[in-house]
Amino acid sequence: GSADGWIPRDPRLVRLTGKHPFNAEAKLRDLYGAGFFTPSNLFYVRNHGAVPLVDQDRADKWELSIHGLCAKPTTLTLKDLRTKFQVVTIPVTLVCAGNRRKEQNIVQQSLGFNWGAGGLSTALFTGVYLSEVLEHVHPTKPAKHVIFEGSDKLPNGPYGTSQLLSWARDKGKAMLLSWAMNGLPLEPDHGFPLRLVVPGQIGGRSVKWLRRIEISVMESQHHLHFHDNKVLPMPIGPERARAEKDWWYDPRYIIRELSPNSAIARPDHNEVLDPSEMPPDATYQLKGYAYAGGGRRVSRVEISWDDGDSWNIAKITYPEDLFRDVAYSDSVYGRLDLTESDLCFCWCFWTFDMSIDTLRGSDAVMVRCMDESLALQPCDMYWNATGMMNNWWFRVRICQIG
Ligand code: MTE
Repeated sequence: GSADGWIPRDPRLVRLTGKHPFNAEAKLRDLYGAGFFTPSNLFYVRNHGAVPLVDQDRADKWELSIHGLCAKPTTLTLKDLRTKFQVVTIPVTLVCAGNRRKEQNIVQQSLGFNWGAGGLSTALFTGVYLSEVLEHVHPTKPAKHVIFEGSDKLPNGPYGTSQLLSWARDKGKAMLLSWAMNGLPLEPDHGFPLRLVVPGQIGGRSVKWLRRIEISVMESQHHLHFHDNKVLPMPIGPERARAEKDWWYDPRYIIRELSPNSAIARPDHNEVLDPSEMPPDATYQLKGYAYAGGGRRVSRVEISWDDGDSWNIAKITYPEDLFRDVAYSDSVYGRLDLTESDLCFCWCFWTFDMSIDTLRGSDAVMVRCMDESLALQPCDMYWNATGMMNNWWFRVRICQIG
């Protein structure tokens, strides 16, 4: 059996790797169908090792050590975090850097396993601002980075990564030390009892089972910080990436913020449309999601059915904006708070009404989006050794059957 056989898991989560560790995504149909917030049992899971077993009753006593270049190094329990700092709740979409890697692996196998387009999920995360906890310990010169370490035991040491101190101190970036998801304690797979949540950056930065924070001159030296979560130049294939380790140490290849990306959820890749049920003048509604990184908004979503020769504007909805209206309201989750930041940290949805006749006559439908910084999803795939950040135009083939 698997090392974490004690964890019940929803059968609708599709396993992406062997028995252990657990890595899974919901089918895009189920994920999209679940709506803006992903129920915790359908939330994608990316574990590098066995899930640390923590007794439910001991969660309050969980200790987080904060040390390194600071005037007041300290150890805070989860109870300290909950009682000594302002508790906030914000909606955040987490996205695995490997989302859509399957398409890259079809071209050439990368170092990573296949993800469809369901390697992302959205939840309300409750916790305290990392920036406030950092102010509490008074970082001192010449600190430049904040290193985060989880408590899972991996073959090459614990899971760890780091952030620039200047970003971590910026309350507007809304990094959280979080213990609850969708109003309930974190599930074991999602970091129970405490995790970091880094909105707008790849999911790999949101360290689960958080144990230790170190303020440092150097960035994290953890194995997964260096030998993962990077987009190496295209000519560096998996063999060279493995053999010539120096490639990894170039800080220019690090991934922080997500890039603009989108996908079509309807029609689904395997959906069968029965034309006899649809009059020729009927419309078919294409649907899907889009997101961008760094708190930037998606500023347009476009659809093409002629291989990118022409594009049509889809309608965008931002369910996240509903939460701006209730900002500062107190709830059972603590303070719903989006007012510290004008940034957008969640996926948005789009729809496009297309004539059934046009849909039937086309070979494929495609979607692409642009973000507020005018960054556009690329026409071509940027294949890379780790198989990360795939965001070329997403397409669904249309086949005529019968
Ligand atoms: N933190 C620890 N301690 N161990 C891990 O394996 N995986 C990371 C990140 N934090 C990981 C971790 C990666 S690669 C991603 S994409 C997210 O957690 C996934 O978060 P989720 O499983 O809650 O969706």
